[in-house]
Amino acid sequence: MGKPVLLHSLLLSGLLLLAVLDVSLVNADDPYRFYTWTVTYGTISPLGAPQQVILINGQFPGPQLDVVTNDNLVLNLINKLDVPFLLTWNGIKQRKNSWQDGVLGTNCPIPPGSNYTYNFQPKDQIGSFTYFPSTGFHRAAGGYGAINVYQRPRIPVPYATPDGDFTLLVGDWYKTGHKALQASLDSGKSLPFPDGVLINGHSQATFSGDQGNSPATTVLLQIHAGKTYKFRVSNVGLKNTLNFRIQGHTMKLIEVEGSHVVQNMYDSLDVHVGQSVNVLVTLNQAPKDYYIVASTRFTPKKLVASGVLHYTNSKTPVSGPLPAEPSYQLHGSMEQARTYRWNLTANAARPNPQGSFHYGKITTTKTIVLSNSAPLINGKQRYAVNGVSYVNADTPLKLADYFNIPGVFSTSSLQTVPNGGAATVATSVIPTSLHDFIEVVFQNDENAMQSWHLDGYDFWVVGFGSGQWAPAKRSTYNLVDALTRHTTQVYPNSWTAILVSLDNQGMWNMRSAIWERQYLGQQFYLRVWSAVQSLANEYFIPTNALLCGKAVGKSH
Ligand SMILES: *[C@@H]1O[C@H](CO)[C@@H](O)[C@H](O)[C@H]1NC(C)=O
Ligand SMILES: *[C@@H]1O[C@H](CO)[C@@H](O)[C@H](O)[C@H]1NC(C)=O
Repeated sequence: MGKPVLLHSLLLSGLLLLAVLDVSLVNADDPYRFYTWTVTYGTISPLGAPQQVILINGQFPGPQLDVVTNDNLVLNLINKLDVPFLLTWNGIKQRKNSWQDGVLGTNCPIPPGSNYTYNFQPKDQIGSFTYFPSTGFHRAAGGYGAINVYQRPRIPVPYATPDGDFTLLVGDWYKTGHKALQASLDSGKSLPFPDGVLINGHSQATFSGDQGNSPATTVLLQIHAGKTYKFRVSNVGLKNTLNFRIQGHTMKLIEVEGSHVVQNMYDSLDVHVGQSVNVLVTLNQAPKDYYIVASTRFTPKKLVASGVLHYTNSKTPVSGPLPAEPSYQLHGSMEQARTYRWNLTANAARPNPQGSFHYGKITTTKTIVLSNSAPLINGKQRYAVNGVSYVNADTPLKLADYFNIPGVFSTSSLQTVPNGGAATVATSVIPTSLHDFIEVVFQNDENAMQSWHLDGYDFWVVGFGSGQWAPAKRSTYNLVDALTRHTTQVYPNSWTAILVSLDNQGMWNMRSAIWERQYLGQQFYLRVWSAVQSLANEYFIPTNALLCGKAVGKSH
């Protein structure tokens, strides 16, 4: 496979740069990294039986992107599947550049046998992020991987350099192939309970009831006694919150989706679908082998995956029951979420302290209340937000905007408060203005955990509460040290409130990270618009942008 080649742009001649890259994106100081990724089907047996999965350069999970803040990534994605395909970069903000977001509202899917070269920067970002397929139900077949964005050399982080850095992609998993799952969703059924949980593509055990069995293990992490390691844990699954824990060890939370947090200790952490957390673990226990565990949360049946932390001087294999699921349930999980706080004096990717941005003192320009639901439409299971179930258009909304193609999306179907009417389908867009500062309340009246994600942004998660949100709940908001992140959970029959500074022009997908909900309509686009078209606000359309639908034949 093609190892990333790191080239300093200073070493490249200007001519070569012009030939290879859209120069409007070039920041000559920042290094370039070139990748060629080929997407194919392959067969592996993560749960024992062979099944078809999606590989990238032959790998499952896909290759890990280890990059530095502001690197320019030039990634040529070659689609060798039999269906159109796109990857999206979960949590990468694509500043001024929704052209590269890789969702069907911004990009034409790459036809089979063809390719598209993404060109983007993790601008002013650090932390652990992920990528995954956004087309069809491909995410159920893999095609996902980690994006680890390291700080630039002179930017401090508020912890000592760890002795090692492990990336753990955890997620629930089905034995059924993505096409069969998609056909079942298309026929109007919701997904069954998954068949297992994977850690980096492996699962030793899928067992129900209590966790008395000790499974065989294959995820083996070699560690040295006395040292401190960083673990980057991301939930890349489809449906379920997972609890992550390590036998006999506590974890110090250091970073959540690009925010440096107050460094509290935890025995276990709930990681909701689409989220990432970074912890430090000090190997201060007797030199043995210890289980690492990810298990489904808030489900009657438990699915568990485990791996092994192997102290290099250990002669004792893992033993005993797997560390038990925590006793705290929904309420305790909400309490845990409230303990995630910004460290106001620590910086993130830029040198200024996070706390120098006083988000709590900014007047909001608009409140949007989004209520999820699971209606039947024409006898089929759909999911909706404020009664509108999203359907993809044949033309990316971003291209429709750019080429002034009418009739592709609707800015009037989705209201900004729930209205209780019958559910409908639409290609729904909520219009907003660049530099709005908005409050979004996710109202979850279903008895199911929600996980909401916004592309192009991170946002302050200022409040969680039970029951119905009302304006009076604003008095409970954390307006001082809430953290920013890109994906937030909303507990069953509860609400979550976020604040978003709309400083990134573009067409941005807001969606359920729970993938059948996204697929069956619990999503829409936020159009962050300004009448003045300026390169200072948004980049030009890429010269290699694929054109499809009503945009076919238009010139860039
Ligand atoms: C496809 O790959 C080639 C290089 O092999 C590249 O020149 C071309 O720009 C790519 N196509 C798109 C649409 O990015
Ligand atoms: C916050 O970050 C600073 C570094 O700026 C660090 O010294 C301090 O220990 C951190 N505080 C907490 C509570 O994590």
